[in-house]
Amino acid sequence: MARSKVLYQCSECGAQVSKWAGQCSDCGAWNSLSEALSVVPAAGKAAARFAGYAGATRPKVQALGEVQPGQETRMPVGMEELDRVLGGGLVAGSVVLIGGDPGIGKSTLLLQALAAFPAEMKALYVTGEESPEQVSLRSQRLGVNADAVRILAETSVEAILEHARGEAPQIMVIDSIQTLYTEVLQSAPGSVGQVRESAAQLVRFAKQTGTALFLVGHVTKEGTLAGPRVLEHMVDTVLYFEGDSGGRYRIIRAIKNRFGAVNELGVFAMTGKGLKQVRNPSSIFLSRHEQPVAGSVIMVTMEGTRPLLLEVQALVDDSQLANPRRVSLGPEQNRLAMLLAVQHRHGGVLMSDQDVFVNVVGGVRVNETAADLPVLLAVLSSFRDATLPNELIVFGEVGLAGEIRPVPNGQERLREAAKLGFKHALIPAANAPKSGVPGLEIHAVSRYAEVLDWFSNT
Ligand code: TYD
Ligand code: MG
Repeated sequence: MARSKVLYQCSECGAQVSKWAGQCSDCGAWNSLSEALSVVPAAGKAAARFAGYAGATRPKVQALGEVQPGQETRMPVGMEELDRVLGGGLVAGSVVLIGGDPGIGKSTLLLQALAAFPAEMKALYVTGEESPEQVSLRSQRLGVNADAVRILAETSVEAILEHARGEAPQIMVIDSIQTLYTEVLQSAPGSVGQVRESAAQLVRFAKQTGTALFLVGHVTKEGTLAGPRVLEHMVDTVLYFEGDSGGRYRIIRAIKNRFGAVNELGVFAMTGKGLKQVRNPSSIFLSRHEQPVAGSVIMVTMEGTRPLLLEVQALVDDSQLANPRRVSLGPEQNRLAMLLAVQHRHGGVLMSDQDVFVNVVGGVRVNETAADLPVLLAVLSSFRDATLPNELIVFGEVGLAGEIRPVPNGQERLREAAKLGFKHALIPAANAPKSGVPGLEIHAVSRYAEVLDWFSNT
């Protein structure tokens, strides 16, 4: 008989100790020990090594070419934008983690998705946060077919799994993983140990039975990130909600996907009747100023497989601080510091006594280097209090040597901009199409100095 034993594991070095302490005795990390479970078979370690194989066929080494992959069955979710981020539908037996701030719309999305599934699919919604009455009220407000969804209000993993074995659903949603606890650990629900062990049991169930499993996880301010983040390596797909919960639009991004591409975006609008898909999101984040304003630039990013036009805004202002502030929401902070250094070294524009703020409208996170040139241009435009031409789009990577580098999918970006009625494009010379793009006047640059010349002459 295997018996399980509670112990404490260091999240930094993996050391295991039997008693909790504030500091790991192995690596010296503080506050890194959390409750964990080790299964020790009664017959000792040697038996443990082979226990898993008793009666089962042991895996053998084989040539990769001999392996016959089974056809993975994909179920369309019935919401195109969600299917898109999942990589073309839900895979049986896969585990999807959906993270995001509280109130951003995780429960709403999943309830809508469950109800949209084909009627012959059995769906089980496990709620640990809200009562069935609350979920029912919401489903009425959303106008979803409530008969399609089975609901269970339970927070004990053992009890949930017992019900799940009886129900045998094709899809199961756990809302949220932070509310669950397993009886084998003593720590409180939401602690790292509980979250990890509860998820491990659920993942095992999903793999054994082929149930597609959604785990909802709250990501809040720094410090409480521990919850969902520790699960990222255990699951097949990680989706995160972006965008501010005050705004109208919600973006779902695939951070990790064993069954599809990452960085694919799904775009939704939050309405009075739940989340509505935005099928053509390329221009929703543009504010379209009547008159051009200083510090605002429209860039074309390529998130996943779709071009997306975003407005990047910058504000450069005299600083009262010894270390002027560099704040960047959207593009990465270090990237901004690097770009400002390039601007000084290769353009002679010094901003060391200025605060610099950069923001991408709509709360979209931009990881692409194609945002370099638009960010620099927005900063320059604000610094000089000089506007850029109306109907201009910009993209391009800026190198440390002051060169403007090409980015992938230049043609597609230009075509999308032309389609939306933009008239000018400032882009890397290597991205300039030989035959041009109808309706678009292209200004090709290969050095940062050329960008400054172009700006001074517009
Ligand atoms: P919810 O799905 O409860 O968020 P989460 O599960 O991520 O915590 O989303 C709730 C927010 O969305 C809430 O502030 C109200 C708003 N909302 C609408 O605007 N319209 C709707 O139809 C619904 C159901 C919610
Ligand atoms: Mg919720």
